[in-house]
Amino acid sequence: MRKKRNKKKILIVLSIILVLIIIIVGIIVFIISKNKEEIKVTLNDNLEVEINSEVKLLSFIDKVENGEIISEDKTVDTSNLGKKELEVKLKNKDQEQIYKFEINIVDTIAPVIEAEDNITVNINDEVNLVNYAKVTDNSKEDIKIEISGYYDLSKVGKYNLKFVAKDSSNNEVSYDFILNIVEDTDNRTFTTSKGYVAKVVDGVTYIDGILIVNKTYSLPEDYGSGLTDSTNNAFNQMKKDAQKEGLNLYISSGFRSYERQRSIYNNYVNTDGVKKADTYSAKAGHSEHQSGLAFDLNTIDESFANTKEGKWVSDNCYKYGLILRYPKGKENITGYMYESWHLRYVGKELAEKLYNNGKWITLEEYYGIESKYEE
Ligand code: DAL
Ligand code: ZN
Repeated sequence: MRKKRNKKKILIVLSIILVLIIIIVGIIVFIISKNKEEIKVTLNDNLEVEINSEVKLLSFIDKVENGEIISEDKTVDTSNLGKKELEVKLKNKDQEQIYKFEINIVDTIAPVIEAEDNITVNINDEVNLVNYAKVTDNSKEDIKIEISGYYDLSKVGKYNLKFVAKDSSNNEVSYDFILNIVEDTDNRTFTTSKGYVAKVVDGVTYIDGILIVNKTYSLPEDYGSGLTDSTNNAFNQMKKDAQKEGLNLYISSGFRSYERQRSIYNNYVNTDGVKKADTYSAKAGHSEHQSGLAFDLNTIDESFANTKEGKWVSDNCYKYGLILRYPKGKENITGYMYESWHLRYVGKELAEKLYNNGKWITLEEYYGIESKYEE
């Protein structure tokens, strides 16, 4: 009886042990199998990216354990600020799984301003200074440029200013520049030493409607295309009348373009040097020949003054509205040596005044202006 009870006890203990073993083994198998199935993903430490930057989806994944990525690597759309959920597909031998994670799209980069360091505008120009700068930003948003500092477009001066630009994430940039407000040399008026009002219109100077070109006052490069009608008519009439006296007048050099004058002047500089050349040849832009109002007669030579033609021209040209532009003894005033062959059309009224009964007055003297190259 006692033996039978002991046997029963042993059986119970054994069964408990067996059940425990089964449970433990079950747990171990469960844990092992569970561990085997789970794919472990480790993300990068930095999940923050700049807006509009080029980033690839898989660049955020540091490593994958117990499985592999089956998603294709693709470029992530980073065009909007803020949190963004991304997902990758993973698999191992047991399963496929979608792994989701979040990145943060930020903007920490300031806009970039491109501009000149020195900006020159004419006084009273209707300019908008912000148009002198270009701003770009990684956010691709439209960014307003503002000007920081004081300036007055109606006052000549130098102003130290800044272009300032800020993006919507408050990243700010500034760009220093100097604003030079200058006189408009192409369009202005000034008063001469004799009280005449000179008008500069698109770079051409007029006094009382008379075009002025000398060493001080130049013509724009593209000015002029030939002798003016008034100049041609004056010459033709003079030639006709001279012919009646048995004299032969002809134009040996009429209109000369800026380029033509440049090459003539440069040739003289090459042979005679600048100082000498400047006494008889004008720099490009400074020749009356470019105005279409001047021409050289016959032989362009000192000897012309002593010919019958030269003498007649000197005494009569004013009647046709033509003047001896570079008279004898006025070299320091006109800036050029005596040129008996160079006539300039100014109209009969002024020509007669300047003829002054044979004691020629120059345009420079008459109007109170200079003829000197800028230093
Ligand atoms: N010979 C004159 C000054 C000219 O070159 O225009
Ligand atoms: Zn000439």
